[in-house]
Amino acid sequence: MRLVTTAREMTRLAVERPAGARVGFVPTMGALHAGHLALMRRARAECDEVVVSIYVNPLQFGPREDLAAYPRDLESDAALCRGLGVTTLFAPADGEVHPPGHRTWVEVEGLQETLCGRSRPGHFRGVTTVVAKLFALVKPQVAYFGEKDGQQLRIIRKMVRDLHLGVEIAGCPTVREPDGLAMSSRNAYLSPEERRAAPVLYQALTAAAEAVRAGETDAARVIARVQALIAAEPLARIDYVDAVDDETLESVTVIERPVMLALAVWFGKARLIDNLRLVPVGG
Ligand code: PAJ
Repeated sequence: MRLVTTAREMTRLAVERPAGARVGFVPTMGALHAGHLALMRRARAECDEVVVSIYVNPLQFGPREDLAAYPRDLESDAALCRGLGVTTLFAPADGEVHPPGHRTWVEVEGLQETLCGRSRPGHFRGVTTVVAKLFALVKPQVAYFGEKDGQQLRIIRKMVRDLHLGVEIAGCPTVREPDGLAMSSRNAYLSPEERRAAPVLYQALTAAAEAVRAGETDAARVIARVQALIAAEPLARIDYVDAVDDETLESVTVIERPVMLALAVWFGKARLIDNLRLVPVGG
């Protein structure tokens, strides 16, 4: 496995790569867990070369968010990548991705303002800007993203279409702990009590999915049910729960085709997100 830390070296590698090689790319912010590893394994199975990036992108953190506290452990992350057969680990220093004085942003209007965009203004333009730059540096054929960050996945797909970036986007199912909690680098912030309480998110989402499978089509009722289940947990503080169209991310009132039920909930210092696809009867 090659470790690359500069934009110049990454560009050189990408340009000198043999023609026809299928390159899979897994962008991450490190603190790798089984969710990231599932993306990397799929890339390994489907591609000739696998590039993983580890970069805690300051552009996607708000001024009062956890940029400084975000977990970082390059050495153990690198060992995990090596073990999975990753060919290139791209771990750029700050100024490499966003050169001093940079002024260029990529924004996906309409999709970036809802759901997490409401409580994290500027977050998604930070994500799309860094992902566009990483795509330009790595030049992959296919890039792997988790369904866990459902809004991010849809925004990236839209960006790739709108900008003709020519990168296939592969969505991968959410990897969960045995008790249903979605794997996340931010789970490390949870106290033991909060960790015990956090599976309520998946329980509430699956209860909603079952209600919809049994014929419920009223989105407001489904959302109220989820909110009530979560609110019964004293350590949880709801940011949002919403049922949105799978592509436009607009709130729906009637569940008549598959929708994404998405939520963000605080447990102490940790803001956790999760989502599930709700498929109506006959949908
Ligand atoms: P990060 O949170 O490190 O996630 C990297 C990738 O792993 C994302 O595509 C995310 O959806 C996926 N992932 C995280 N937890 C997962 C889980 N439990 N199951 C399946 N996939 C999971 O998302 C980011 O970093 C950043 O925004 C990034 C795209 C790297 C841009 O900075």
